Amino acid sequence: MNYSTNAQSHLTIDGVDAMTLANTYGTPLYVYDVSKIRQTMRAFKAIFEREQVPYVVSYASKAFSTKAIYQVAQQEGIHADIVSGGELYTALSAGFNPQHLSFNGNNKSWEELTLAVTKGVGTIIVDNFLELQWLGEITAAHGVKQNILLRISPGIAAHTHEFISTGQQDSKFGFDLLTGQAKRAFDLATHDNNLTLRGLHAHIGSQIFDVTGFEKNAALLADTAHHWGWEPEVINVGGGFGIRYTNDDTPLPESAYAAAIIQTLKAKADTFGWQMPAIWIEPGRSIVGPAGQTLYTIGARKEIPDLRTYLAVDGGMGDNIRPALYQANYDAVLANNPNAQTAEVVRVAGKYCESGDVLVWEQALPHTQPGDILSVQATGAYGYAMASNYNRNPRPAVAFVEDGGHQLVVERESYADLVALDRDYELASTPQA
Ligand code: LLP
Repeated sequence: MNYSTNAQSHLTIDGVDAMTLANTYGTPLYVYDVSKIRQTMRAFKAIFEREQVPYVVSYASKAFSTKAIYQVAQQEGIHADIVSGGELYTALSAGFNPQHLSFNGNNKSWEELTLAVTKGVGTIIVDNFLELQWLGEITAAHGVKQNILLRISPGIAAHTHEFISTGQQDSKFGFDLLTGQAKRAFDLATHDNNLTLRGLHAHIGSQIFDVTGFEKNAALLADTAHHWGWEPEVINVGGGFGIRYTNDDTPLPESAYAAAIIQTLKAKADTFGWQMPAIWIEPGRSIVGPAGQTLYTIGARKEIPDLRTYLAVDGGMGDNIRPALYQANYDAVLANNPNAQTAEVVRVAGKYCESGDVLVWEQALPHTQPGDILSVQATGAYGYAMASNYNRNPRPAVAFVEDGGHQLVVERESYADLVALDRDYELASTPQA
């Protein structure tokens, strides 16, 4: 991994000293390098522009949903994908153009769909028959037309962790292709005057490193539409582009995935005599993952001779559950001296009451002391997004850094926040004699 340092030998993030951030905002602290986020957003767009194909890059905001990130996405001219009323509300609160939102999810409620339709969400990605029926009723009741895509289970098993693989046939997402459900949904959607079916969607999984799954997915969606005798305006191949968490990961550049999808669909459009459909992609992790890191303060250590040394920090599974949930690996760096000679191999553990509360399984580090600052790298995706108040720990703050400047974009939760929604139990005031 490459780190930038300054004259004090401190880690820097887009020109800002990590120690300044830790001192200013406290730890644990999520820090995002906004220049890096913009670069990735631009890299995705650039390849479509170069190939001169119609496209939409829609940031899968489940990876990290805050007002600030919707504002950056909007500034960069990219769309956003949402999967709940809460993400929709956050995007709207940020001033995000609802026309540039797409709404995914396998069990959207009547209320969520009503909110989406009435707020003018650009595209609803319909996942099941109940939703198709409800959308028909809601749009009719409000006298509006709604653009939709149909989500298909493509039956493509991507090589990734079972829990984050979504494209295989045995999946709760989307209309099954192999048993004719997708065609039935197509017939229903095209006969509903309030719904405008613009295309098909399929997502094969997450943290994927090779292009063949994306090519197969794009080809399958095009073939399916052609088989139905239909020329779609949109082919949405989802997200899932892998990133580097440690040096064991070898992702391709953004442009390689996009280029493979473009070539596949250009060939299909040629063969079928179609206008080039708009290619939609939904990258989440690849946009925010590498741009984020988490700063922790080192506390207690436990040495078990001839076995292992545990180094505990002031956060853990409440701010990053991915190691506990997916055995995910991360790299850590000593922020107050990243280039110091390494002296020992440790396991970085959190402060939560659970043995699986690990942040880094194995890490060579310099000698450290309580009070040192450790940065766990590439935590920008599904870290804050999946954070919890387990053990009644407040969730950390989030800081954005850009070109030497820094700003808090999510406040640290306080103890008062933790009990803000609690209510005293009235009946508890009558003790038994
Ligand atoms: N589009 C759809 C329909 C999705 O289901 C997902 C992720 C994405 C896009 C974005 O995928 P990405 O580009 O971020 O890989 N919590 C897990 C990841 C779950 C991903 C679920 N769907 C993790 O921490 O690895």
